[in-house]
Amino acid sequence: MIPHAWEGIPQQRNYPYNCWWVAAFGDDIGRSLLARWLLDTPVVLFRREDGTVAALEDRCPHRMAPLSIGRLQGDTVECGYHGFRFADNGRCVRVPTQDSPPDISVRYFPVREIGPLVWIYLGDLAVIDQVPPPPDMPWLTDRAFALRHGTMEIAANYMLLKENVLDLTHLGYVHASTFQVTDIVRPPDVVVDGDTVHYRQRFINAPLPAGYAHTLGLPPGTPWNRETHGSFLSPAMQQGATDLSDPSLPDALPASTRFAHATTPIDQSRMLYFWVLGRNHANSPQEMNGFADFIKKGFAEDRAVLEAVQALANRNPRRGGHDERSVKADAAGVQARRVIARWMARENAATA
Ligand code: FES
Ligand SMILES: [Fe+2]
Repeated sequence: MIPHAWEGIPQQRNYPYNCWWVAAFGDDIGRSLLARWLLDTPVVLFRREDGTVAALEDRCPHRMAPLSIGRLQGDTVECGYHGFRFADNGRCVRVPTQDSPPDISVRYFPVREIGPLVWIYLGDLAVIDQVPPPPDMPWLTDRAFALRHGTMEIAANYMLLKENVLDLTHLGYVHASTFQVTDIVRPPDVVVDGDTVHYRQRFINAPLPAGYAHTLGLPPGTPWNRETHGSFLSPAMQQGATDLSDPSLPDALPASTRFAHATTPIDQSRMLYFWVLGRNHANSPQEMNGFADFIKKGFAEDRAVLEAVQALANRNPRRGGHDERSVKADAAGVQARRVIARWMARENAATA
């Protein structure tokens, strides 16, 4: 048994506020008010007139109406209940029934737009400089990669998705008929570097599963080199990767596929899953659309499993008195739980 930070599904909040999380894709946000519930917090997002993204707490401090049912007036948000207006820094700048507004404000949240993703910081502004920035993922802005993305709401704790993508042995079971990758049967190599967890698995001169072979125009089963690897980059973001290379051309640039698995808790038992996939080969618009449709089928299979696990935990949080049993293939997921425990401990220390 490998000891880890919690058993089963944590019963306490396991997501730090003092962290950058993905709030939306850039193309979700325009000149209207977008409501999102993130980390137990109602948030309203919009684009300013100059195109940059702003985020405020979605709760009017007057009588608690969601600001998102109001409207944008220039770069201010007008509450739809009594017309108070709030600037993009949260300050109340107009109360229609009096000459000058009282000293009231709504929380504002720092935002960063990087590639297709909009990141948000919902934590303590006093410590924001000590918090790691959104992780660097160069392929998201590399023109060699064509991208597709999507959002799913999943009724499960966000770490269930992280553990899912840190243990790819589930491919041979959950996705046996969709992805048809059934040769991930050994635990990967796992390396922990500070608060980052890496895994890597090499298949040398091994038969290519049909889905990969198809993208290279090769018959299924062609002996090629394949590396499946990934990294738990932060509580918010996990990266997955596959690099395919011709064994007879060891110096050639690999045919690469990348996944961003961004999970943002809505609350303790629900998450928003923002996924991005990228490919530097077989990446015409038509091929990418087909790839995204194919992957979405697989993600729906993951969602079904994760929601079933969460539903069981909701009905029986004590697991019927059984301990959770981990094996070698869980090593990366167990390390990720420990990373989360460290983030939570740092946050609790900062608050104290
Ligand atoms: S509740 Fe927003 S102005 Fe009254
Ligand atoms: Fe999966």
